[in-house]
Formats: sequence, C-alpha cells, structure tokens
Amino acid sequence: MHNEIQIHDKVFVPYLSKELIKERIQHIAAKINTDYKNLNPLLLGILNGSFIFAADLFRELNIEAEISFIKLASYKGTTSTGQVVTAIGLEQSLHGRHVLLVEDIIDTGKTLHSFLPEIHNTHPASVKIATFLTKPAALKYDVEATYSAFEIENKFVVGYGLDYDGLGRNLPDLYILKEN
Ligand code: IMP
Ligand code: MG
Repeated sequence: MHNEIQIHDKVFVPYLSKELIKERIQHIAAKINTDYKNLNPLLLGILNGSFIFAADLFRELNIEAEISFIKLASYKGTTSTGQVVTAIGLEQSLHGRHVLLVEDIIDTGKTLHSFLPEIHNTHPASVKIATFLTKPAALKYDVEATYSAFEIENKFVVGYGLDYDGLGRNLPDLYILKEN
C-alpha cells in the first residue's frame, strides 16, 4: 500500500488493506452461502461503484446464483447531488426471484431508498442488500443492509471500485481523505 496518494486536488491515506477486505468479503459470503442455499439468488450490482465488490463477492459464492447489473447515479465530486437517475435499467424479470442488491457504499441511503420501490413493483420473492461499506453517521433514509463488509466513519473514501470524480477505482486497497 502506498503511504499517501493524490487524486485531483485531494490527498488520501491508507484505510483498509486488500487483505482485510478479502477476509471480510469471505465472511459475508459464507453467510450468503448459508442464507441463500437452494434459492438461486439474483445478485443485482449497482454500477459503477459496486463492480469490483460484486465480482469478488460473487466468486466467493459456492451456491447456485446469478448476477446482473443496473446503473444508478447520484454523486458528483465528494458530495451527493441529491438527484438519482437510472442510466441503465433492469433487463430481466425479478418476479419471484430472491434479489440481493449489491452496493459499494450506503452513505445517505438516498440511492437505494429511491430505487427500492421500483424493485418491489416487479414482485420479487425477497429483497435484501449487500454493501461493501456503510457510513452509519451519514444515513438519512430508512435503508438497512443485511450484509455489510465494513462500517466506516463519515469521511470520503476511494479505491476498490469507489471513485473521486472518476479516478481511484482501480486501487486494490481503500484510502480515506487526509485531514489537514
Ligand atoms: P447515497 O445515495 O447517499 O447512499 O450514496 C451512495 C453513492 O454515493 C454510492 O453508491 C457511491 O457511488 C457514492 N459515495 C458515497 N460516499 C462515497 C465515498 O466516500 N467515496 C466514493 N463514493 C461515495
Ligand atoms: Mg458512485
């Protein structure tokens, strides 16, 4: 892990190592393997941020499972714009399916809160959330993840799929905004 990295105008420091991330993902995957055995869950990754977490989580599943992706967006820079748009929608029926939404991070909860009714309208058998990160202190909407790899403090992070204005997603470890 590098000591400090600069992305655009901001400096970030190491926060969660890729080894620790892998360990926690194996831990939640073990729960999902038990909870969804014989249910053929449909993991629904929310792009762009979740693509790395979704890929790693999916490879830890040893049960019958499917994966698909949708694209929602509500963030610009380091603060939420408050607007959620569906950029790429659902392409298959969720009717009767056990849907597991896969997110990179639940921050205010707005993204998922505004999207959940759309999911429920399609009459799935169940809907739960798996998220890489949650920021409990930032939560403003009634959204709860059944599976969360890490609860973190209310600061901006990059890496492991999460970006700062487009950059940083390819960092294998997670970095946090440096205090000045
Ligand atoms: P929410 O709708 O406020 O829960 O925000 C969720 C989305 O905001 C996530 O899917 C991320 O794309 C983005 N986001 C929230 N916090 C961070 C962060 O610390 N770093 C990078 N992206 C973030
Ligand atoms: Mg994002």
